[in-house]
Amino acid sequence: MSYNLLKGKRGIIFGALDPNSIAWKTAERVHEEGGTFVLTNAPIAMRMGQINELAEKTGSQIIPADATSIEDLENLVAQSMEILGGKLDFVLHSIGMSINVRKGKHYTDQNYEWTQKGTDVSAMSFHKVMQTLYKADAMNEWGSIVALTYMAAQRVFPDYNDMADNKAYLESIARSFGYFFGKDKKVRVNTISQSPTPTTAGQGVKGFDGFIAYADRMSPLGNATALDCANYTVTLFSDLTKRVTLQNLFNDGGFSNMGVSDSVMAEFVKE
Ligand code: NAI
Repeated sequence: MSYNLLKGKRGIIFGALDPNSIAWKTAERVHEEGGTFVLTNAPIAMRMGQINELAEKTGSQIIPADATSIEDLENLVAQSMEILGGKLDFVLHSIGMSINVRKGKHYTDQNYEWTQKGTDVSAMSFHKVMQTLYKADAMNEWGSIVALTYMAAQRVFPDYNDMADNKAYLESIARSFGYFFGKDKKVRVNTISQSPTPTTAGQGVKGFDGFIAYADRMSPLGNATALDCANYTVTLFSDLTKRVTLQNLFNDGGFSNMGVSDSVMAEFVKE
């Protein structure tokens, strides 16, 4: 269902790799709600991905950018304003990557070069994106910036590895930069903490099937899907959430406030 919530709004969507990507679903929903945007992803991901299909479907242009490169980001922001015909109203940062996770390197045995690369891609890139937008004065007043995160930033999920630390850093950047963006430009900055979701990045986490099944059974409403996340993001891009900022917002079916559920408890109770 469409409510025209983003009619006339312009933005940039990072991180749509394939139809499972949360950013892909978000692009589809933003388009349905009347928003226009530029799609971007790392040049390497573009060669492997299906982003052209999404661009066609949503009438969008694609600008490749490595989110760790200031030069790429400056070019992206300048070109996006030109293509879209003005300043931006929304930006989605949907980027995550850990080489330690990908290569099965245990948390207690990190390759620190990989750790640093993962931190740059998954967390510092959010600062870089915001600093580039801020310096270019590229956001309209009452604009909205959203990044995606996971609850391993607050609680221990052993197999989430160094991504847990990256997410804690990402959430902190949202608050710290969100202060300046709010005070100086009237722009809001939030993170959405999403349920485990079967995407390329998600499925890279060791034991993901167990992880997602456990979360589903713990959550009174079950896991939030990628589409649920897209819908939540649409509300945060809309004018209906104008003074929501500096928040880490859980979109997780209630998981984050659970101790134990009947369904999980049943596994441990002997008849
Ligand atoms: P995905 O694999 O579809 O998306 C990750 C994206 O990051 C890809 O499009 C990839 O190309 C992009 N990326 C990697 N390096 C980049 C770089 N240097 N520059 C620009 N883009 C780069 O997976 P998903 O799950 O849609 O991930 C989106 C976000 O959601 C990530 O921040 C992830 O950590 C977060 N998230 C995912 C959950 C899950 O279970 N899938 C749960 C909670 C949060």
